[in-house]
Amino acid sequence: MIKVFEPRLSTKDKLSVLSSLNKSNISGSSEEVLKFESHLARTFDRKFAVALTNGTTALEVAVKSLDFNEGDEIIVPSFTIISCLSAIIRNGLTPVFCDVDPITWNMNIDNVKRVTTKKTKGVLMVHTYGLPADATNIKNFCDDNNLKLIEDTAEAHGQLEKRKKCGSFGDVSTLSFYANKHITTGEGGAVLTDSQELYDLMKQIINLDFKEPNRFNHKNLYWNYRISGIQASLGISQINSLNKTINLKIKQGEAYNQLFKSHTDFLQIPLSNVNESKNHYWVYGLVLKKQNHRDKLMKYLFENDIQTRQFFWPLHMQDSLPKKYRSINENLSSAEYIGENGLYIPIGPHLNLSKQKYVAKQIINYIDYSIVGKE
Ligand SMILES: Cc1ncc(COP(=O)(O)O)c(C=O)c1O
Repeated sequence: MIKVFEPRLSTKDKLSVLSSLNKSNISGSSEEVLKFESHLARTFDRKFAVALTNGTTALEVAVKSLDFNEGDEIIVPSFTIISCLSAIIRNGLTPVFCDVDPITWNMNIDNVKRVTTKKTKGVLMVHTYGLPADATNIKNFCDDNNLKLIEDTAEAHGQLEKRKKCGSFGDVSTLSFYANKHITTGEGGAVLTDSQELYDLMKQIINLDFKEPNRFNHKNLYWNYRISGIQASLGISQINSLNKTINLKIKQGEAYNQLFKSHTDFLQIPLSNVNESKNHYWVYGLVLKKQNHRDKLMKYLFENDIQTRQFFWPLHMQDSLPKKYRSINENLSSAEYIGENGLYIPIGPHLNLSKQKYVAKQIINYIDYSIVGKE
């Protein structure tokens, strides 16, 4: 089976973990965690980073830190991961869904403006699948309208928007280090900020609100979302190979684009770039232009030893969405179309060009015989 992703760990990664084990630097209070945080802050052009358990808790903590009032509206793209929705709802806020661009699969400033109301207090902006969202315009809009910006950079490590680092736009910006991310710690995440105040608050939120002098008298009922020193030591080493990982992904993404070039009447392939930002192909996505074939194609590929995944299922169509948020006037048809007809295919260090050719050939076979109707 050619897996949709597979992390590759270098000898240096393994030695870094071994060294934290040898020094017994394994807990969330070890110096490895502080070192990882300072490397992250530097890598993403921020003053502070708070490393924690995963990208989902990062979003929850990021939203919590911003002192919204219950019921405040937060704009979120419907086409994204469930973690964004749960961070908003778990913090007692109201999700307002915007559509995404059908070609870049990202939210843009027009999508945001269309759903802004007097009750809007924040925007949760997500960079999706390898291309940056319309970050500069969305940030300027937030600044002009006194809205807080939460930026989800889980899929955009090392990406730029108009020459500014993704992860440096939000009042708070989040990262995931799950095994399929460009920097991985197996499981893990972080929140980035330039505010000392938010940094101090988030450190308390993720650490049970321990505070001297009476350490075990806790003012707030917070969480333990600490990352371990073992994970942090892997992250420190992984940061060093970020550019190598991105360069490989770009090369592989462009190779797929060439292989699918002849079939773009049937397949929407990813853009190579948006403005000056090259696609980093965090995943390599495809959208079928003919409906009701995606699941059949996935089954066909699975039978030919190729693992795939569906695109995100739109947030406004989630079974878990509470009833009170279900009456939606906004047209979210792009999120719906790509959610129903999109899939992503294997990409990453476990693939070579001949495997990519095999994957592409199977997809083209399916199109030729099951969509075009070749005999
Ligand atoms: C955009 C985005 N945000 C958040 C997450 C959640 O991260 P985690 O799996 O570390 O909880 C993911 C996971 O893939 C993601 O793609």
